[in-house]
Amino acid sequence: MLSTLTAGLLLGVLMHHAAAVDKTRDPGLMAKLVTSNTQLDRESLLSTDKDWLFDFTAQDYFYNFAPGGVTNMNAATFPAAKGNGMTLAMLNLGPCAMLPPHYHPRAANYVVAVSGNTTTYMYEENGACLVTEILTPGKGTIFPQGSMHMMVNNGCENAQLISALNSEDAGTNNIGNVFTNGFPFDLVNAAFGHNLADAETAANMDPIGTGANWGLPACLKRCSSIINAVETTQGIICELKMAPILHLMRHAQGFHSSAVSREGHNMRDPKLTPEGEEQARTVCREFPRHDKIELLLASPLRRALQTCQIAFAPCVERNLKIVALPYAEEASDDPCDTGSEVDVLKAEFPDVDFDHVKHGWYLHEGDTAVDPTSLNARAAKLRRFIRDRPEKEVVLVGHGFFNHYLTGDVDNNGKQTTPWWEETELRTFTFVDGDENAAIKETEDSLTTRGASE
Ligand SMILES: *[C@@H]1O[C@H](CO)[C@@H](O)[C@H](O)[C@H]1NC(C)=O
Repeated sequence: MLSTLTAGLLLGVLMHHAAAVDKTRDPGLMAKLVTSNTQLDRESLLSTDKDWLFDFTAQDYFYNFAPGGVTNMNAATFPAAKGNGMTLAMLNLGPCAMLPPHYHPRAANYVVAVSGNTTTYMYEENGACLVTEILTPGKGTIFPQGSMHMMVNNGCENAQLISALNSEDAGTNNIGNVFTNGFPFDLVNAAFGHNLADAETAANMDPIGTGANWGLPACLKRCSSIINAVETTQGIICELKMAPILHLMRHAQGFHSSAVSREGHNMRDPKLTPEGEEQARTVCREFPRHDKIELLLASPLRRALQTCQIAFAPCVERNLKIVALPYAEEASDDPCDTGSEVDVLKAEFPDVDFDHVKHGWYLHEGDTAVDPTSLNARAAKLRRFIRDRPEKEVVLVGHGFFNHYLTGDVDNNGKQTTPWWEETELRTFTFVDGDENAAIKETEDSLTTRGASE
């Protein structure tokens, strides 16, 4: 579920503007609940259904996966919990995130993993043994009241755990507080026998924030396809990588076009007509984001490669290589939609990257077969490939029919459900968050520009 990670650009340091301390939401109501004589008196103060619903996912500050957070349902955050003697918490740990060492002064803590792979460490008291557990879904452990514990997600996927504490006011005390809570530095250092505590250590410590912080630099490095970790003088700042913006375009007019030839579909891998070249030049002049494009992708059919070269000439001029992708070819096996041998293409387009194009790529077999099931599968693979690229803004020059598969505008029989794309038509998309098929959604700007927004 990596794509849920793409929820937003979250700077680790900026997240820490408030501390993970539960504040009583409604002190007036709580005062009345506490002084109510009977449970029925209390119920009359909690008279609507919504008084009895707590939405963890709506607790914006705490409920995140970058790095993560502890979201508590207890007397402070949920008045209906008052008097029931427990706290239920959701622990979200994004990739490489950890809960730092802490203890709960007033509760034992049960934890069970719902997703991910989390390693827990628990130390009960002086002289005890260290207890280490790996919690994968369905596995749980307990941290007895007052025991020191911490946990870390060493994977690149999100981890989520449910935590139950036998107090509605469990409290949390981070061990790192010893550096920041006002204990005299010289005494802390004397106690440890080491000079660890000083004003600088205190200032550079991760604030308590949501209760979670980024973990090991080695993990951040291992997960570098989804996290950018930047070392600064203030420590490591992490940001989640976002799926790129996709500019999807149809090629310009080729010699197979019905406008120039009656038997065009029998023409193998046609080139652009002079008018097609002119259409591509027009896009080049009008496209406002040449300087933002970080990756050029094109179908290996000649008309798409040529269109990409001309329409995005400024990008090519600053040495961006066009990457030819067989997965982007047209959705038919007509001769006009049947490509050329890769050696021929290499000679014609010496500046294009043909690493993905293998001998016989144009045969419409296997992954590039032209039945609707294969076409849908190919479109999903291509979308996932683009979504997982590190670049922020990507161009793909493809084809009028296959673009419908990419955008999901086909019915169960593989018929397109929206009109043809114009030659050189360009639309801009973002990826739908958390979709396993990497569905794309046209941006409002793009819809407005082509007069299609409602
Ligand atoms: C969980 O992660 C640990 C390393 O942190 C690894 O040894 C273990 O195999 C993982 N378990 C699963 C089920 O992925």
